[in-house]
Amino acid sequence: MDKSNLHVGEKLLAWYDRHRRDLPWRARPGEKPDPYAVWLSEVMLQQTTVAAVRAYFLKFLDLWPRVEDLAAAQIEAVMQAWAGLGYYSRARNLHACARRIAEDFGGRFPQDEAELRRLPGVGFYTAAAIAAIAFERPATVVDGNVERVMSRLRALETPLPAAKKDIPPLVAEIAPRRRPGDFAQAMMDLGATICTPRSPACVLCPWGGECAARKLGAPEDYPRRAAKKPRPLRRGAVFVLRRADGAFLTRTRPPRGLLGGMEEFFGTDWRVDRAPDWSAPPPGFAPFVGVNWARAGEVDHVFTHFSLKLSVFVGAAPRGAAAPEGGRWRKPAEMKEAALPSVMRKAEALAGKFRG
Ligand code: ADE
Repeated sequence: MDKSNLHVGEKLLAWYDRHRRDLPWRARPGEKPDPYAVWLSEVMLQQTTVAAVRAYFLKFLDLWPRVEDLAAAQIEAVMQAWAGLGYYSRARNLHACARRIAEDFGGRFPQDEAELRRLPGVGFYTAAAIAAIAFERPATVVDGNVERVMSRLRALETPLPAAKKDIPPLVAEIAPRRRPGDFAQAMMDLGATICTPRSPACVLCPWGGECAARKLGAPEDYPRRAAKKPRPLRRGAVFVLRRADGAFLTRTRPPRGLLGGMEEFFGTDWRVDRAPDWSAPPPGFAPFVGVNWARAGEVDHVFTHFSLKLSVFVGAAPRGAAAPEGGRWRKPAEMKEAALPSVMRKAEALAGKFRG
């Protein structure tokens, strides 16, 4: 083993001891980490920022302090608490995983990476993160931050995503033998606070002397990236129908697929070949015939694989109107609690502002 590599890892740990972020799921120095909190935070942090996760993490721990409590919860309550965080299959898997841990593992998470990977919603990244952070196992933890940091430290010329497979051995090479959990979190903190995508703060970096990309004078030119395919644009319409008593008409999406099991307003499907805009609802799509629909405007939302432009129509239904098949009326107080994803909240807000 090359001594200078070990030195690189130790320098990072020393930096972490002074500059670690204070995050609610992190054990403080000397404290033992709670595997449940580590798992919950890592699932929430998949594709989601620390800033967005913080409040959700605290809410979940408050509602369900132990994995057995989460396992005993109704799935609807879990989806509702998750609403707004996105990637809703994570919430479904979270609940399934909690049940497995409670029922098959006596409430204790396994420590081995391969065994962790057999749990619902736990892939390579999450298994490694739990093994290292909760159990001090020498697992190699690589997320997007770590890929960027490593690409710069070694000035990797292979563009991402092709370089992904080259990165874990390079991380393992610099990992100190001690404190694998702190090392993994230090890599992520360095990526999040110093080695940021644009304008990295190299003067503050513990690797200022070692970083190959910095020596080349252009750290932000790494990681190299293959040209991205543009996101396709899909379009659709939603119909925000309010009854005279203030209730909203909603329905539940099918359990699988995009926004699976979440609640929504009635609407068309979302397609790339739709007309660019509508001044009136497309014929045959509105949940009620005979409603006088008005167009409130358009909301935009970005999903991983496509962008969405959604025309929002508002309409009024008489007091006592029955819900069409598959629908339900939600009182305003219930709307606050309902498992509406962010795109539907945008539609709700736009409809609320509209005075037709
Ligand atoms: N991103 C994902 N997991 C993280 C962690 N444990 N610490 C900091 N950032 C993270």
